[in-house]
Amino acid sequence: MTLIKTNFGFHSTTDEVISGIDLTGKRAIVTGGASGIGIETVKALAKAGAEVTIAARNIDAGKKVADEIIAITGKCKIYVAQLDLDNPNSINNFVVNWKEPLHILINNAGVMAIPDLQKTQDGIELQFMTNYLGHFALSIGLHNALKSAGSARIVAVSSSGHLLSPIVFDDINFAFRVYEPWLSYGQSKTACILFAVGANERWAKEGITVNALNPGAILTNLQKYVGGKLRSAPEFHKTPQQGAATSILLATSPLLGNIGGRYFENCNEAETVTKRTDNYGGVAMYALDKDNADRLWDISMKMISK
Ligand SMILES: NC(=O)c1ccc[n+]([C@@H]2O[C@H](COP(=O)([O-])OP(=O)(O)OC[C@H]3O[C@@H](n4cnc5c(N)ncnc54)[C@H](OP(=O)(O)O)[C@@H]3O)[C@@H](O)[C@H]2O)c1
Repeated sequence: MTLIKTNFGFHSTTDEVISGIDLTGKRAIVTGGASGIGIETVKALAKAGAEVTIAARNIDAGKKVADEIIAITGKCKIYVAQLDLDNPNSINNFVVNWKEPLHILINNAGVMAIPDLQKTQDGIELQFMTNYLGHFALSIGLHNALKSAGSARIVAVSSSGHLLSPIVFDDINFAFRVYEPWLSYGQSKTACILFAVGANERWAKEGITVNALNPGAILTNLQKYVGGKLRSAPEFHKTPQQGAATSILLATSPLLGNIGGRYFENCNEAETVTKRTDNYGGVAMYALDKDNADRLWDISMKMISK
């Protein structure tokens, strides 16, 4: 399979990637759109003419960001809706209230390296829930809206952190293993990539393509549990505009028309790797494996049906 290569790269910004693309008449949702790279993602989509809904667990934070973006861009179709990905009722409310065809769903919200083992009311480990399973439930809930758009894209924001762990199918919720914040983060981000594989496999025939990505290292609120610092060397750091560029590429570029089930970084499809690389580049084979994706899909359907 030929890897998708573009003229964009590590330093490319959202403005560069979306230049010339008109999203008038398109509707988009960005989870976690009130912080970090989510803000730049919302801004870029709105500037290109899309109607964008910021799905935020803190509605006031979402409204503040929406007002700021409206003031900067002059685009007024930016809405805010409450969504807590750790709460199945909140996900259900969001889905029930969504009535329109949906062209772009960016599953961007996330948490990283929560220090202690935490579980939802249903016993799901919190990073797995926030980063992956909540987004899985949201995507399933919005499936008909995506389908009715005729042509739609889902973007799963993963991380190079996926190289820290495959899915441990026999102990997803750390009932046996000693909890380790990075193994949990890694597992949840592997799940995001496997979601792209599994959802694309099932939904591409309906016009819904799904890809995953690593945004790179961007100093945002995400680092709150690790001392507010990036772990990588300064030459690997990106601005939020650069960090959001790959999300925007996957959501909008004509180059990605019928492309799905793949993983990108620095605005290009990543090489597969068979071991963790020193610079955390590439995508692990286990994260693109169709059998793993099917197994995770089945388990996830059971988890959200409880
Ligand atoms: N920054 C990096 O270096 C980096 C590297 C690799 C991957 N990523 C990925 O990029 C994505 C965006 O991260 P960021 O760097 O922009 O971090 P961020 O500034 O912390 O933004 C994360 C967003 O997710 C939201 N969120 C967290 N838990 C949620 C929940 N239970 N329900 C709904 N929303 C929730 C946060 O809302 P609150 O403000 O309410 O907490 C926030 O809006 C994440 O998926 C992250 O894993 C980032």
